[in-house]
Amino acid sequence: MSERQSLRHRAPAPFPREPRAEVGADAQIDPGCVVGYCYRDDAAPLQLGIGARIRTGTILYADVLIGDHFQTGHHVLIREKTRIGHHVLVGSGTIIDGEVEIASFVKIESHCYIPTRVRIGERVFVGPGVVMTNDRYPLKQRNRYRPEGPILETGVTVGGGATLCPGVRIGEDAFVAAGAVVTRDVPARMLARGVPARFEPLPESLLERNLALSWRGLIPGDPPT
Ligand SMILES: CC(C)(COP(=O)(O)OP(=O)(O)OC[C@H]1O[C@@H](n2cnc3c(N)ncnc32)[C@H](O)[C@@H]1OP(=O)(O)O)[C@@H](O)C(=O)NCCC(=O)NCCS
Repeated sequence: MSERQSLRHRAPAPFPREPRAEVGADAQIDPGCVVGYCYRDDAAPLQLGIGARIRTGTILYADVLIGDHFQTGHHVLIREKTRIGHHVLVGSGTIIDGEVEIASFVKIESHCYIPTRVRIGERVFVGPGVVMTNDRYPLKQRNRYRPEGPILETGVTVGGGATLCPGVRIGEDAFVAAGAVVTRDVPARMLARGVPARFEPLPESLLERNLALSWRGLIPGDPPT
């Protein structure tokens, strides 16, 4: 069979496929969003909890699980096999490139890049323009390639424009200063700053737990206000 004939007999790909999503009550989804982008035939519907607010230009893939009171800014992309807890906000232009785990009560600001295999704990703040990486030697040593994203433990703060190298673990309540390049694990409750980042104990004034005004009274164990 000639190449031309074989092309003619191939079934046309059903594309674009219809989005697949199960959306909880009270969602506000702007026109111009794709909720449950179907990237393959056997993708499971996106699960989106109650009270979601999804702003124009956002694309949420199928095979994604998102809890209640989720919010996006504009032009957010969240790819497949990502798991997100409750009360999470993802700012405009941020890309979450799939297979990412995000706990509840997390704020991710605008224009961040989060590659596969990143894990983000509760009460984490990620400042604008933060770049996380998961491939230490891009396009090198491909026979040993194993993507490994950063791990951000509970209560971590990452300042704007910081870069986190593959596989670094940012310890509980640690604080990464704006513009830092983190090349090594940061112990709990340390301040990491500079390029490459050096560590020092967090000043007393920054030891309090991360708490957004909108989370008040919602986190188990926190005093109601
Ligand atoms: C690291 C940080 C917490 C320090 O704040 P601070 O305790 O008030 O520190 P100061 O501004 O008094 O600066 C103390 C010293 O640290 C230096 N410094 C401050 N921020 C720095 C940073 N991001 N990287 C490197 N050095 C920094 C200052 O130049 C100063 O140095 P000097 O003593 O030699 O003059 C703060 O600067 C920071 O980076 N916060 C994150 C901001 C952010 O990204 N927010 C995102 C939401 S918009």
